[in-house]
Amino acid sequence: MVFMKKIIVANWKCNPPTYKKFKQLFAQLQKKVRNFKKVELVICPPFVYLPFFFFSRSSFPTQHLPFKLGAQNCFWEEEGPFTGEISPKMLKDLGCSYVILGHSERREFLGEKDKEIGKKLKASLENKLRPILCVGETEEERKKGRIFKVVERQLLAGIKKVKKQEIEKVIIAYEPIWAIGTGISCSSNEVLTAALVIRKIIAKKFNQKIACQIQVLYGGSVKEKNAPDYLTQPHLNGLLVGGASLKIEEFGQILKIASNLGNN
Ligand code: PGA
Repeated sequence: MVFMKKIIVANWKCNPPTYKKFKQLFAQLQKKVRNFKKVELVICPPFVYLPFFFFSRSSFPTQHLPFKLGAQNCFWEEEGPFTGEISPKMLKDLGCSYVILGHSERREFLGEKDKEIGKKLKASLENKLRPILCVGETEEERKKGRIFKVVERQLLAGIKKVKKQEIEKVIIAYEPIWAIGTGISCSSNEVLTAALVIRKIIAKKFNQKIACQIQVLYGGSVKEKNAPDYLTQPHLNGLLVGGASLKIEEFGQILKIASNLGNN
């Protein structure tokens, strides 16, 4: 296992509801993130707030920000007659480095399917964005003992067109749906098992070396209290944080924990 920085992804989802509140949140965040050099911090605000970083470049050069920018979704084409869509090329142009794909809220509420997620993933790689592919089972699938079947299906469909030389750019986030936003977090043992299953699937499709190198995150009711349980797992590379990433005090603590456990 290659030691590296812990990856902490803040998924702000559809928050904050106004530009004024976004700027307040960002101002708080800025005070907290200055010293965390051993963390690869990725902030994923709603699309509409991404230009803020782009247009404030002179006072605020993106390369000097102590974090990378990510989007919460993208389309698979670069441009054209696709009303309401945002392309990976546009995101790259606005300074994004990452994109979350296949989040369960998009699968559930927007009807996203494995096949489309796979197309988005391929397009994001082609535009030099690092995709963060979310996989995870529902409560019902869990009860029926289908966790690994579901994870395998979502993972293999998501990376279907990915070549061997591209796969290391893909980050996999194990996000059991029953744990998202519910306050019920997945035990670190279950997360570890899922991470190992993900690596096994990657090893089968590519090889063992790639399986060891690929970065796997956990997401689902991550809090300051449970963050150490996950961040000390050797097969996990970081966390995807929703609700707690909007509470800057708590998020700062999560970053601190990750920084103490990470490597440059
Ligand atoms: P949560 O969300 O931390 O609020 O559970 C995680 C996610 O949806 O990525």
